[in-house]
Amino acid sequence: MAILRILLLVVVTTSSAWAGCTISKDVKGTSTVVFTLSPTPTEVINQLGMSNMLSPVALIDKLQSYSDTANSLMKTVTDKMKALNPFGSLLPIPECRYYWISNQLFCDNVNSAIIAPICGMFTTITNVTNPISLPLPQLDSIPLTCENDLDGRPWGLEKIQAPETWALGYNGTGVVVANIDTGVRYTHVELRDNMRPFFNWFDPYNFSTNVPSDTNGHGSHTMGTMVGKNVGVAPGATWIACRGCGTASCDNEQLLACGQFLSCPDNKTQSCSTRPDVINNSWGGGIGNTFYLGVLSVWKAMGISFFFSSGNSGPACSTVMSPADSNYTKYGHLSVGSTACNDKIASYSSTGPSQAADYMAGLGVQIVVPGSNVRSAWNTSDTAYNTISGTSMASPHSTGAGAVILSKNKALTPEQVYAAMMSTAYRDPAITNSAAYCTSSSADLSGYPNNVYGYGRVNLLEAVKVV
Ligand SMILES: *[C@@H]1O[C@H](CO)[C@@H](O)[C@H](O)[C@H]1NC(C)=O
Ligand SMILES: *[C@@H]1O[C@H](CO)[C@@H](O)[C@H](O)[C@H]1NC(C)=O
Ligand SMILES: *[C@@H]1O[C@H](CO)[C@@H](O)[C@H](O)[C@H]1NC(C)=O
Ligand SMILES: *[C@@H]1O[C@H](CO)[C@@H](O)[C@H](O)[C@H]1NC(C)=O
Ligand SMILES: *[C@@H]1O[C@H](CO)[C@@H](O)[C@H](O)[C@H]1NC(C)=O
Ligand SMILES: *[C@@H]1O[C@H](CO)[C@@H](O)[C@H](O)[C@H]1NC(C)=O
Ligand SMILES: *[C@@H]1O[C@H](CO)[C@@H](O)[C@H](O)[C@H]1NC(C)=O
Repeated sequence: MAILRILLLVVVTTSSAWAGCTISKDVKGTSTVVFTLSPTPTEVINQLGMSNMLSPVALIDKLQSYSDTANSLMKTVTDKMKALNPFGSLLPIPECRYYWISNQLFCDNVNSAIIAPICGMFTTITNVTNPISLPLPQLDSIPLTCENDLDGRPWGLEKIQAPETWALGYNGTGVVVANIDTGVRYTHVELRDNMRPFFNWFDPYNFSTNVPSDTNGHGSHTMGTMVGKNVGVAPGATWIACRGCGTASCDNEQLLACGQFLSCPDNKTQSCSTRPDVINNSWGGGIGNTFYLGVLSVWKAMGISFFFSSGNSGPACSTVMSPADSNYTKYGHLSVGSTACNDKIASYSSTGPSQAADYMAGLGVQIVVPGSNVRSAWNTSDTAYNTISGTSMASPHSTGAGAVILSKNKALTPEQVYAAMMSTAYRDPAITNSAAYCTSSSADLSGYPNNVYGYGRVNLLEAVKVV
């Protein structure tokens, strides 16, 4: 994560001849480069305004209209590389891929010598960088500190009162959840019955995997906690998935490809009606990293609820990772921390305040949910389970909770789903020491909301009662 931060901050401005185009110092030799074009999707969406928001298809059409510049840029990159290499065969010809969800062009095999002249030709290029890769969130193994798995069910389900909520008839029925993770073992007994049978999977690491698979275990685990038959918060929901993370890390190009896929799994053939209602994101990295903000803006504009784990870098203050550290009211998500079965914050759980440049000192965590010693599905066999810990294990509890709340009322906006969770969260009265919650300017006399527990620990039963 430290490496990622350095990569992002070491950016130098080129001479004024190419005003506006910043070329990262790391871009040298022949490498894969990312041309970021203006306007950003966030700018386009802000200009429209939420009250005049376009339909999903019209919004995508509008964002895709900027691909004309990218196409012309793509041709220029290819021509300039050919000119550098007049006899052919010495240098490979660049291959480029455009992502409308970030207005970025990723090109392989680009020699840095051609970049400054190209910046001079295309005034809408704002910067040129190398791609980044984020680590898969570390899975902490921590000692058992309290009673586990009451009644044979994962303890977190009892803690948020999921069984009592199901008894009222709400279990996620009619709601579609998605994850961007390492994939899912779709034949697992926990997950085999509720995968949606269409537009259910995309693997930007390998276009020929046409059914889901999980090369790590992490993705099956988190999906199990969301919608698993016996271990999930919302067993009545259906699921779809996208592989944003390979075996060991998550590359930003594939994360963007997944953001794009999930915004419209049917690629406009069914008006994007196949997009999920709730998305869980099991990755993150760096502080104030902006590369995913376009995706957040698009998901928000399309009415999707989504959750990011705060990160596993606690207990120090200001350790919340991106994208969880971005302004949650502006981008429309919740940052989720992790608790143990005694309702105390887990030592690894990242905290606020945010250090993101455009959200300085903002609330770093909005809610907390169980995340330590969570038992769920694993990728090694159809009956394999694993008990692991991390904010990665917490976030799916909140994603599943979002699905259950929506199953009571599909018309709720993401903001209403979040408000239900936050206003009814359990607030430990013992947490009163301001130093212990990373000084929060927004905290009231009870000490909430604060940068460690946010508005408190989700209680699904109470949240469902208020919608
Ligand atoms: C590149 O430009 C975009 C859009 O202006 C911005 O959000 C991002 O922070 C920039 N990235 C770098 C590394 O300068
Ligand atoms: C891509 O997926 C296909 C089908 O699952 C598999 O046969 C192939 O080995 C994979 N390729 C890579 C490079 O992982
Ligand atoms: C499950 O994940 C592990 C890494 O945790 C990997 O080595 C293994 O190949 C995966 N198994 C399957 C069946 O994909
Ligand atoms: C979810 O609840 C519905 C009733 O609302 C019920 O018919 C269905 O069997 C339940 N699904 C699961 C997986 O428990
Ligand atoms: C989506 O549809 C367009 C137009 O039909 C097509 O060019 C494009 O390749 C499709 N994208 C994907 C990811 O299938
Ligand atoms: C966060 O975004 C909201 C809504 O756009 C805005 O009102 C607020 O000032 C922002 N907060 C910070 C600290 O930038
Ligand atoms: C949910 O998101 C959290 C935090 O980003 C992540 O750690 C976890 O793996 C994700 N779960 C799923 C099912 O994607």
